[in-house]
Amino acid sequence: MRHLIEITDLTVEEINRLITLAENIITNGRRFSEVCKGKKIATLFFEPSTRTRLSFEAAMIELGGYVIGFSSSDCSSAAKGEMVTDTVRTVGCYADIIAMRHPKEGAPLAASKYSPVPIINAGDGGHNHPTQTLADLLTIYREKSRLDSFTIGFCGDLMFGRTVHSLINALSRYENINFIFISPEELKIPAYIKDDTLKKRGLGFKEVERLEDVLPDLDVLYMTRVQRERFFNEADYIRLKDSYILEPSKLYRAKKDLCIMHPLPRVNEISHSVDNDPRACYFKQVQNGKYIRMALIMKLLELEA
Ligand code: CP
Repeated sequence: MRHLIEITDLTVEEINRLITLAENIITNGRRFSEVCKGKKIATLFFEPSTRTRLSFEAAMIELGGYVIGFSSSDCSSAAKGEMVTDTVRTVGCYADIIAMRHPKEGAPLAASKYSPVPIINAGDGGHNHPTQTLADLLTIYREKSRLDSFTIGFCGDLMFGRTVHSLINALSRYENINFIFISPEELKIPAYIKDDTLKKRGLGFKEVERLEDVLPDLDVLYMTRVQRERFFNEADYIRLKDSYILEPSKLYRAKKDLCIMHPLPRVNEISHSVDNDPRACYFKQVQNGKYIRMALIMKLLELEA
């Protein structure tokens, strides 16, 4: 039985095969409409979500399966003090696969040790978000026709941004990726990512504070939200929340084929007036998220069309 807790639980070859399968699903959706007939996914969301939970549910429904679950810890027995390990042992009696989001780093890993069915980490605190990474990789591949040899700038909250951490981890295994990290001093990429992922693999990177200084060099710009829910101190959040706001006037120096990404939700960091720019790819990421999750469910349940 396979779980997906971190993106490195999948080899590069497996990720590439998932991307190929997702593209097949995009082209030939009807062929996959009964692949999960009789199967159930449980979406256990102990933290809010729009895209991840609903895309898992849409993915299972489009594969012909069913959905059970909860969208908040308040309406599960977690509110009575139940541990996640008991929750997944219970839900594993009802469902074939579980997608779990939790505010505590490591909760899906702990759950996977006790679960009788595959666990998918749908985001754990400020740690990892591997299925967002799969959606991001599919988006980059569909925009650039490759997953190597480009310059990517990560901008915003790189300290707590779990989507950033997972995507760096994934891209560090592809060839010739140039990483640029754009953040205020307080929200810099954690040392463990620099040491354990980048330096260990001999990969170079640049850290800057001003987006304008590096924007012309970028092939991909990955914007992120400053996350109020990760701060201990409201004053720090208020001071940092508008550090970066991408507006059309800033994009005139960017490449014509720049791919502008954001895992969403956004608050202020990308002006709505950027949405009609052909370089805006963040709603394509949302759409791709459903297809890659369909591919992932099939892989973990060992199902074929
Ligand atoms: N990208 C993402 O995880 O969005 P949600 O929080 O809405 O699931």
